[in-house]
Amino acid sequence: MHKVVKKVLVTEKELKKIIKRVAGEIEFDYKYTDFTMIGLLKGCIPFLSSLALQIKLDYKIEYLSVSSYEGTDSRKNDSLNIKTQIDFPIKDQHILLVDDIIDSGITLQILKDKLLEMGAKSVKIAVLLDKKEGRKNSLEADYVGTRIPNEFVIGFGLDYDELYRNLPYIGVFDQKYLK
Ligand code: IMP
Ligand code: MG
Repeated sequence: MHKVVKKVLVTEKELKKIIKRVAGEIEFDYKYTDFTMIGLLKGCIPFLSSLALQIKLDYKIEYLSVSSYEGTDSRKNDSLNIKTQIDFPIKDQHILLVDDIIDSGITLQILKDKLLEMGAKSVKIAVLLDKKEGRKNSLEADYVGTRIPNEFVIGFGLDYDELYRNLPYIGVFDQKYLK
């Protein structure tokens, strides 16, 4: 276990099982629907790559970079900075947003509204983790890997100060290493 990890919340083995289940749900729902998966950089990478390889359908994969927390600071305003251009079709498309975690729900809500405004036929959300107690709106993800308590976690895409995304498990970040 990495020294900055206070406790492992989801093991590597559990992650595999969880992702397999979510992939099955998505495959079932989109069997007869063309769709575009949009991964939110950078946290989506491990989840999206494991998930996408298991969904045996034909679909497009795109990425968007949106800004979120700095460090463990969860105070944020209601405006979302979309750093990359949406240079792929949205109008009349079925979109599946993929992210590492839904916390306040603000990022995903703003993005979802924007994509619907751009004419998306549907926008659904898949997240590996759901920190329900952190929610500041009524948004629910359509596909959830697992719910976690309101603690700052790292690993499997989730970072503290851009580090620890490569840990193969989800761990609670030990606040004594806060910079
Ligand atoms: P929100 O749902 O708009 O609050 O934002 C979710 C984003 O905040 C995620 O995509 C993560 O990048 C980041 N985030 C939220 N909780 C955590 C955490 O516990 N560890 C690391 N990043 C987090
Ligand atoms: Mg993120």
